[in-house]
Amino acid sequence: MNPNRKLATVLALAFVLCAITQAKYVTAGSNEGAVPAKPTFTKDILPILQKSCQDCHRTGGMAPMPLLTYEEVRPWARSIKEKVVARYMPPWHIDRTVGEYSPDPSLTDAQIATIARWVDGGAAKGGQSDAPPPRVFPPANTWVFGEEPDLVVTSAGFEVPAVAADQYPKVDVPTGLTEDRYIKWMQVIPEDPKVLHHVLIYALQGEGAGGGVRGEQRRGLASNSLLTEYARGNDGDVFTNGTAKLLKAGSKLRFSFHYHPNGEKPVNEHARIGIKFFPKGYTPKYLISTKGISSPATLAIPPGEANARSDAYFRLDEPARLVSFQPHMHYRGKRMTLEAILPSGEVELLTDVAHFVWTWQITYAYKNPPAFPKNTVLHMTAYHDNSPGNKENPDPTAFVGWGDRTVDEMNIGWLDFYYISDQEYAEIQKRKNEPSKALAASGARPQ
Ligand code: HEC
Repeated sequence: MNPNRKLATVLALAFVLCAITQAKYVTAGSNEGAVPAKPTFTKDILPILQKSCQDCHRTGGMAPMPLLTYEEVRPWARSIKEKVVARYMPPWHIDRTVGEYSPDPSLTDAQIATIARWVDGGAAKGGQSDAPPPRVFPPANTWVFGEEPDLVVTSAGFEVPAVAADQYPKVDVPTGLTEDRYIKWMQVIPEDPKVLHHVLIYALQGEGAGGGVRGEQRRGLASNSLLTEYARGNDGDVFTNGTAKLLKAGSKLRFSFHYHPNGEKPVNEHARIGIKFFPKGYTPKYLISTKGISSPATLAIPPGEANARSDAYFRLDEPARLVSFQPHMHYRGKRMTLEAILPSGEVELLTDVAHFVWTWQITYAYKNPPAFPKNTVLHMTAYHDNSPGNKENPDPTAFVGWGDRTVDEMNIGWLDFYYISDQEYAEIQKRKNEPSKALAASGARPQ
């Protein structure tokens, strides 16, 4: 064992001992904070709800009930405990020990224990003066990124019947752009989110143009690519740190809808996308490409099979950084993993969506976008559960293959990434190695 390793082991042991001596405040398995002996709503629970729940659970939000005040939260206390202990809420379906993400709304073990203890202890309110100030939210159906969009493209209306099979209309709308522009943010607002399972918005923009941005032209990646998706858990994209997406002159947007009739009344539904551009003449350093890796031709799920595996691969022909990963499957989706197979043969697990829930389409954005050398292969593995044990399964006797309908299946791993130069890759590697050496020498753990 080298001396640094030894020091780290000693420190780790000291840490465990510390945790044990503090056991009266800390729940088993938690090293992420203390659990108060008598939690109150105003002091301990409200800050958690503000950070991890209220984006959706607020008046006019997408969740069924607001969780803003004590009066609103109290009747749900039991249900809240159940959903957070099961890690069903907030929706975050990955194995939390794999990878670091930002944003990461998931609760720590200590936060979950705090909520459970609060509920079990009678859900006390506590003193009003302990409460943090309420959060201020933009009104529903407004542009949320602090400014008006430069371009709003609205799909033609579509009549979603009250009762019918799911509907999959595709609608093309010209953008009217007369020059190429780089996108700073975009946000999708549907008229009635209750009938919309999701809409994929593609940019139909042919080959060519986009010069000046590394790698884009040769690969034609900006042509006919996915621009953005609206789904539960996903309604916008903001590009930072020198990144952008490109929308070309003369482009059209294809809205590819998946509607789910609400069973009550017909709805005339349309969606609009608001796009803010970077100033004219601005050229981003990196162009984000969105790539779906999937294996439609070989996706074959036998009746009753509880763990049908399928794989797909994508080779990076230049060094690249991976921004985010989003799994897409239907009723029978169970789990999806993404790993990197490096040219050295080393394999790195990047994300394990171990508890996939098909009604949620969550994008997992990496806190430090991992960088890969050229010829790295990104490998998606999907698992589908076609057994009667899957309570979402509409028909365990069916042989299931690829298709648009939710009763068919898909296995798409959506990747957002951008290419970098060999030199940039080398610099990232250097930075990665240097601080970790320094940290190891000082006995601290690299993050
Ligand atoms: C991204 C949006 C979002 C976030 C964040 C979120 N929820 Fe939810 N929540 C929903 C939606 C939508 C539903 C209903 C659909 C479902 O159950 O999947 C729901 C359902 C629930 C339910 C069950 C309601 C019922 O009808 O039985 C509870 C309880 C709940 N959430 C609590 C929480 C708590 C507590 C947090 C934070 C720790 C949280 N949620 C975070 C969107 C969200």
